[in-house]
Amino acid sequence: MSNPIIEKLDSALESAEAKLKTAANGDDVEAVRIELLGRKGLIPALSKEMKDLSPEERPKAGKALNMAMAKIQELLNSANESGSTDSMGSAGIPDVTQPGRKWKLGKKHPITTVIDDCVAIFRRMGFIVAEGPEIDTVYNNFDALNAPVDHPSRSPQDTFYFGDGRLLRTQTSPVQIRVMEKQEPPVRIVAPGRCFRRDTPDATHSMNFHQIEGLYIDKDVSMADLKSVLLAFAHELFGKDVGIRLRPHFFPFTEPSVECDFSCIMCEGKGCRICKNSGWLEIAGAGIVDPNVLKAVNYDPEIWSGYAFGMGIERIAMIRYKINDIRLLYENDMRFLEQF
Ligand code: PHE
Repeated sequence: MSNPIIEKLDSALESAEAKLKTAANGDDVEAVRIELLGRKGLIPALSKEMKDLSPEERPKAGKALNMAMAKIQELLNSANESGSTDSMGSAGIPDVTQPGRKWKLGKKHPITTVIDDCVAIFRRMGFIVAEGPEIDTVYNNFDALNAPVDHPSRSPQDTFYFGDGRLLRTQTSPVQIRVMEKQEPPVRIVAPGRCFRRDTPDATHSMNFHQIEGLYIDKDVSMADLKSVLLAFAHELFGKDVGIRLRPHFFPFTEPSVECDFSCIMCEGKGCRICKNSGWLEIAGAGIVDPNVLKAVNYDPEIWSGYAFGMGIERIAMIRYKINDIRLLYENDMRFLEQF
């Protein structure tokens, strides 16, 4: 039994194939596409005729229609690819006088570059990369890190809460907890990532910013180990002329705690605008892991000890690239980003 739709499809396919073989340019290919697939083309017209067929013939015609459409698309694609397109002269020879296509190469954002460089330095020293979520629990961000309920950084004025026991992490330190809860010591990780604080934006503050966290747990770890790693990092990042100094500080999760300054790379420690005439740049918070933190993750503080540090990525990027306003890093103005 003959099926008028299938017959029409067969002859349409045959003639389309012939036309595409001799198509001289993209316009010819487009004409075939419109004739068959366009709104008033053959395929939509035949689809409408389906309703006139008997119930036995209808599925066969439907199948044939689908196959024909796929076949037509395939023919069109290969006609376009095989060069019957605009970049071809009418004889099918490439028109070498046409201007070439210019590819714009993308590049890394300066924050990404700094993260990658810091990670590369620490990886060479044997650290591996760990990650945690930007939304973490209040427990991981504060309680397990020995931050008491009345610690000022826990106040809603400083922190974005979700109200379900979770928050936007205020630091990368909760990754310490996540890693230690999952594995036995020794631990040697760095964790780069985004953090959030309720800061009023200005030239040096942003509500979201990046840190890189470091954690080292082993037996008999001392302040000397911490200092040597921070100094080696400073030399790798900014060069051998850079010195570091440790100032006493307080963090709930380290004891003793320090702030680590690098000597100013702009004025070599003489004093300038960047270092506010002090000769030093504040780069990291650090210290010896508080025994209470080790207890929170069931590590025995009588056996294990360690150091931790956390540094601001934006701070490093601003110093390295001489950027005077942190907001420039987030505005995605191409005139700014193209300079890196
Ligand atoms: N998390 C601290 C901050 O955000 C930095 C820090 C990390 C300090 C690890 C000590 C140890 O300020």
